Amino acid sequence: MELVKTVREIRTSLAPLRRRGARIGFVPTMGYLHEGHASLIRAARRENDVVVVSDFVNPTQFGPNEDFARYPRDLDRDRTVAAAAGADFLFAPSVEEMYPDGAGQFFVDVGPLAGHLCGRSRPGHFRGVATVVTKLFNIVQPHVAYFGQKDYQQALILRRMVRDLFFPLRITVYPTVREPDGLALSSRNTYLSPTERQEAVVLYQSLQEAGRSLAAGERDATRLRHRMEEVVGRADSSRVDYIEIVDPLTLLPLERVEKPALFALAVFIGKTRLIDNALFDPSGKELSADELFNRTWSEWE
Ligand code: PAF
Repeated sequence: MELVKTVREIRTSLAPLRRRGARIGFVPTMGYLHEGHASLIRAARRENDVVVVSDFVNPTQFGPNEDFARYPRDLDRDRTVAAAAGADFLFAPSVEEMYPDGAGQFFVDVGPLAGHLCGRSRPGHFRGVATVVTKLFNIVQPHVAYFGQKDYQQALILRRMVRDLFFPLRITVYPTVREPDGLALSSRNTYLSPTERQEAVVLYQSLQEAGRSLAAGERDATRLRHRMEEVVGRADSSRVDYIEIVDPLTLLPLERVEKPALFALAVFIGKTRLIDNALFDPSGKELSADELFNRTWSEWE
């Protein structure tokens, strides 16, 4: 696997491969790679001739009081994980390389989907994500890009971006990878103290509770939300940012679950903000985001 730090180098490396007809799979990450990333890289390996992983902590998607400065970074470890999972190139540019003009530059305006869920508590976050992902897509020009369902709103926004702006690539969303107790893997889990780590499982447990309540016939979103709040409240260190049951394509709140719905939550465990989600049909069966997106937007594939 080759470590590449500049736009010029990665373009020069990929151009001849693309000309020869190689199919390029791309896994954008902010590094500190875990098994969730590794599963995306392995999927890219299976489905493509060339696999590119980007490793870039993107400053424009962090708010002024967020964790940009202390976000975990370990390029040596990332090299090992990415290579073992089958990457051919690890693209790890500097901030100056990705933002040569500093703050004076163009941004991608996401529109209404950025006004819900995480976008409400993190203004500007999805604008930063859409902007850096646009840059990365233009640099790498992949045939397929891979994202995890843990960041459902991000995956939805990027699917919509690719469709609305006619990017010539396909986005595939893979299921959330979890610890044995159900906690969704996240680089931010490293911030948790041992007690907080144990308590963090309430996010997953609240989603399971929602699934069980649906299976038992509950359809009322307010009551379902309260059940989830109760479960999250069992952790002393928890503080709810949001718990919402929304339409999975518009992210608008639902009053009743009569069709597939996104159950999404963000919870502070101590000082660490964690997110999780599940897509359920009204019977409580879990659905995959990729399947839902493909069913909705398959006209260009
Ligand atoms: O999901 C992430 O790690 C980031 O938001 C992404 C897509 C790499 C953009 O910085």
